[in-house]
Order: sequence, then C-alpha cells, then structure tokens
Amino acid sequence: MSEMEIDGYKKWVCVTPVRQEENCHAIQYAQRLAKFFDAKWVTRDSRSIAKIFSDTGAEVIVVAADWPVFYHRDQTENGLQYHPGMSTLRLQTLLQGGTDRLLQAAQIRPSDWVLDATCGLASDAVVLSYAVGRQGKVTALEKSPVIYRMLQHAQTEGLEHLPQQISTWLSRIDLLHQDALQFLRQSSHQQYDVIYIDPMFQEPIMNSPGIAALRPFAYKEPLDEILFAEACRVTRQRVVIKARAHDSIWRRLPIQPDKLSGRVRYGIWEREGT
Ligand SMILES: C[S@@+](CC[C@H](N)C(=O)[O-])C[C@H]1O[C@@H](n2cnc3c(N)ncnc32)[C@H](O)[C@@H]1O
Repeated sequence: MSEMEIDGYKKWVCVTPVRQEENCHAIQYAQRLAKFFDAKWVTRDSRSIAKIFSDTGAEVIVVAADWPVFYHRDQTENGLQYHPGMSTLRLQTLLQGGTDRLLQAAQIRPSDWVLDATCGLASDAVVLSYAVGRQGKVTALEKSPVIYRMLQHAQTEGLEHLPQQISTWLSRIDLLHQDALQFLRQSSHQQYDVIYIDPMFQEPIMNSPGIAALRPFAYKEPLDEILFAEACRVTRQRVVIKARAHDSIWRRLPIQPDKLSGRVRYGIWEREGT
C-alpha cells in the first residue's frame, strides 16, 4: 500500500523549542528534522504550539527537541515523544532470569517469526524482538503515519541515545507503515508463528501517560471478527490479543484469557495440534 493511501496528515510543520529559537545549532537541527519528516521548517517567533497551528494551518507540529515532540491540533498541551517505556525494565528482568507475561502467554521461542500487528511505541515489539533473538524476526505494523515516522526516526537517528539493549532489539524490528487487516489479507496462510494484537482500549486506562500522548494520533477501531479471522488464518501457532477484563472481545471471539485476575489480560487463540 502506498503511504498516501493511509497518510491522513498532509501538512507537517517543524520548529525549534522556544528556549532555543535563536541558537543556530538548534535551528540547523530543526531544519534537518524538517527534511526527515517532509515538514516545513518555520521560525518559532516565541509562539505557542496553539498559535503555530492557527498561523500555519498545520496538522502536525514537530518540535525539534533531542527526541522530537509531535503535537496534534486537538491536543496542543501534551506532545508525543518516543521513549522505550516499560521495555527497559522488562528486558532487565529477562536478563536477570525473570519472566515476562506477554512472552509466556504467547509462548515465544528463539527463532520464532512474530507479527506485532499494532506496534504503538514498540515497547512490546522490543521485548518480542529480544525473545526471538537473532535467528528470529519481528515484523511490526503501525497504521498511524505520525507514530510510524516517530519510530522510524528512533530506529535510524535515535539508536545511539538509547540504552544498548533497547537499541539492539529495536533496530532489528522490521517496522512497516501498514494497516493490519490489509497486511494480513496479503499474507500467506500460516506465515507467522505468532500474531500479537494490542488495539487501543475503548475505555482508556487513565494512569498510563505513554498511551495518553499516543491517543490523538492512534487508530482506535476495536478489533473485529474479520481481522481476527485473518490473523487466525495467517498464524501457524497462536494469536494473542491484549484486552481489558471487561472488554466485549471476550464474548465475541473464541479466545482464552492467560489469567483470570487483573484489569488487563492476554486472550489466546491456538491452532489445533500446536
Ligand atoms: C495500544 S497501542 C499498542 C502499544 C504497543 N503494544 C506498545 O507496546 O507500545 C495500539 C497501536 O496500534 C495502532 N493501530 C490501531 N489499529 C491498527 C491497524 N488496523 N493497523 C495497524 N496499526 C493499528 C494504533 O495506531 C496504536 O499505535
């Protein structure tokens, strides 16, 4: 699929942070980032983000901080910035011999080929990438152009600023700007060992600041039966879905929860005979 078909944000503007608007290195960096994101560089002129939106008619503003910050016109207070989130702690736990709930639910093995159909901030994808190791592969799909480009920037320009464990496994993820259903429809029967789907919760968990910043840019359609059926066709072993305990998904789809306690559960569908 071409980028234009799913790229809903046509007009991107890039500026320096207010405090650095007269620093020539900061201006050069903002101009470089503008090129990277196909954005228009404009002078900051001490304007607020809301004012730049109204002056320029931009749909996305990128502030050229060390990690670029992305603003949506509907949420000019909180910007979205790449960060590895819980994956740092989860990798540390695994390196110290501990376990990870997603890896257990999905029964990931070294050398597996995993499809993460809803990449988001790639926190889960990094943990999956570590677990499949150098012989395995994680392909991660993200439909939102802003989230996809933010991750692409982290994967290409940001690696040296990340802890080594994160950069190693983040860089190995095969990241694609794709809609999950369209991608699955074009995939072969039993192409991936495991397919993982973590759609946006319909009822947000309010104390999750990482996901709150992601929300304005994220695709929020609930997971439907058609996508699920395609995932079951394309997986060789299992489909794992992250959902809240009271989600209608538990009534709609033939999945079994990994646990019966807690607000969030992994729903598992397994191919017979695996
Ligand atoms: C809850 S987040 C995933 C969080 C992720 N597991 C992590 O560890 O950071 C859901 C993400 O899936 C993306 N998404 C939603 N529907 C999609 C679809 N049909 N195809 C691809 N990506 C989709 C959203 O834009 C959002 O970024």
